[in-house]
Amino acid sequence: MNIILLGAPGAGKGTQAVRLAARYKIPHISTGDIFRYNIKNQTPVGMLAKSYIDKGQLVPDEVTVRIVRERLEMDDCKNGYLLDGFPRTVEQAKALDGFSAIDAVVNVDVPLGKLMKRITGRRVCGKCGESHHVDYLGGKNVCAKCGGELIQRADDNEETVGKRLDVYVSQTAPLAAYYEKKGVLLTVDGDGEIEEVFERITERLDK
Ligand code: AP5
Ligand code: MG
Repeated sequence: MNIILLGAPGAGKGTQAVRLAARYKIPHISTGDIFRYNIKNQTPVGMLAKSYIDKGQLVPDEVTVRIVRERLEMDDCKNGYLLDGFPRTVEQAKALDGFSAIDAVVNVDVPLGKLMKRITGRRVCGKCGESHHVDYLGGKNVCAKCGGELIQRADDNEETVGKRLDVYVSQTAPLAAYYEKKGVLLTVDGDGEIEEVFERITERLDK
């Protein structure tokens, strides 16, 4: 199954993607994670991506599309994949149509007003990548899953998040209509407990 997870920054794409990839035994491909890996390793793609990500802007389509095209050609994607954070523009969606067929697009829907708190409170495990929220950490700064140290993403400050939300509304939200027209859109209420949202998604996908 080739699946796209669509949703605003902080909607829970990464949180759900980890669980969905394990359930359906398909690779979780997050363009944000790929960019952050490249930034950490100071590659040319990383340096370029950083200049956009730090400002809350999208990395240019041609760069992002090339990375995804190459990633989907890898062997582990033969039986399906789960895209998290791609496509994010209609141009990217059109490019993807040219090299892969999508079975389902899960649109994780969360009221925009709830996202700022979710993102600014996010702490990510530097070891396993799991997302946590300060409200549930009880003052500790260690990952409940693997014991790794938790860090805050450089783009998770209020100012950058505000820009990311604006970019989402103007450039990414129109993708819901794009996939609705194709008959593959599954909109799921993403407001609720993580497990609850997971069940809503799998219920729709299992059909
Ligand atoms: P990316 O890394 O994709 O960031 P994003 O889309 O802004 O989304 P987030 O990762 O912030 O949120 P999420 O939906 O994964 O939420 P999470 O599960 O962590 O992209 C970063 C940047 O890279 C972009 O701004 C852009 O510059 C660039 N980029 C990436 N892809 C690109 C593309 N295709 N084209 C161009 N540029 C691209 O959850 C968030 C928080 O909420 C966590 O603290 C979590 O614990 C909590 N939470 C999760 N679920 C729930 C729940 N049900 N209830 C309460 N809290 C919850
Ligand atoms: Mg994410």
